[in-house]
Amino acid sequence: MENPSTPANRYRPLKIGPKIEIWPPVVLAPMAGVTNYPYRKICYEFGAGLCISEMVSARGLVEGNERTWEVAHFGPDERPRSLQIFGAEPEVLGEAVRRVKERVDHIDINFGCPAPKILKRGAGAAIPAQPALCRRVVRAAVKAADPVPVSIKVRLGLDEERFTFRDAGRIAEEEGCAYIGLHARTVAQRYGGRARWDYIEELKCLVRIPVLGNGDIWQAPDAFRMLAATGCDGVIIGRGCLGNPWLFAHLKMLFEGSGRPARPDLEEVAQVIRRHYRLLREHFRRPLQAEMLMRKFGTWYATGVRNAASLRRRFQTISSEADLEAVLEEMLRAGIMDGLPDPAEPSELVF
Ligand SMILES: Cc1cc2nc3c(=O)[nH]c(=O)nc-3n(C[C@H](O)[C@H](O)[C@H](O)COP(=O)(O)O)c2cc1C
Repeated sequence: MENPSTPANRYRPLKIGPKIEIWPPVVLAPMAGVTNYPYRKICYEFGAGLCISEMVSARGLVEGNERTWEVAHFGPDERPRSLQIFGAEPEVLGEAVRRVKERVDHIDINFGCPAPKILKRGAGAAIPAQPALCRRVVRAAVKAADPVPVSIKVRLGLDEERFTFRDAGRIAEEEGCAYIGLHARTVAQRYGGRARWDYIEELKCLVRIPVLGNGDIWQAPDAFRMLAATGCDGVIIGRGCLGNPWLFAHLKMLFEGSGRPARPDLEEVAQVIRRHYRLLREHFRRPLQAEMLMRKFGTWYATGVRNAASLRRRFQTISSEADLEAVLEEMLRAGIMDGLPDPAEPSELVF
């Protein structure tokens, strides 16, 4: 295994199109309900190289749907601005891209969503199973986006009998995508089982555009294991950073050889939760909108705290800053649980 504590000076910034350089080559995965502007801001501050928005519907953008445009919002200080779009109609996707391209630095197309309502519309992970349509969608997006770089994010395929990532990789390369991200699970697997990194390696051998690996990076050293095992050009991190934006700081540290990852103390966790809540409040103005999100994020932040189950229940009830402060007080009294994974050790979940 690679020694993750040595300065990883063999890794290079990830180039996305001619203008964007991502360092470290670590990407916050697009996650609906999670990667809104406040959480992206936090992850950028912790050291993520690129933070991708929640997915937005191409049709919603084109039809001027207010909620869709809200999701497509970026902060004034946010760079790079990366928007993920889904849609199955090439003309609509092209039009959506034309409407957003002045506001963004990068567009990612979602070809991996397993949600039945998206699949039913023939979008998400259903598209690479129809290579001719997939090509038309990618072509329309790349053409409309020019000069903004476009990437695609795919799964292995629909199920064990219908792998689609190889076709998608060829299409991405031939149609001028800046990179392809591979979540190494099938739709049938959803989020279960283990991500099968050997297919990331196969894709890396198949195409010349950058390949980003995704699936089961839980601790910073997992990312180095993925890079070493597959030769991929960068990593995309989803669930591993939920309640743990420190993961990005740990990765930066290892990429730059500037220290050994350690868990933050509870006071620091509380400070980040407060800041996260404040950002949510500034951004989401409808009554209880920020609190509803904080309930969800709070349960993730509670992981590893001694009385996590009770804290999670209490996070579920917060309706104000005072409620949040009361929960944080309980959290600080409770203390960290023993037996949390050491963030400097690779996760046992992988392989
Ligand atoms: C709550 C949640 C929401 C997600 N939403 C999206 C999405 O909007 N677009 C997308 O391409 N993938 C989405 N994903 C998939 C992730 O981007 C990622 O591919 C997946 O979680 C695997 O990576 P991981 O093992 O690091 O979590 C979502 C995943 C989660 C857990």
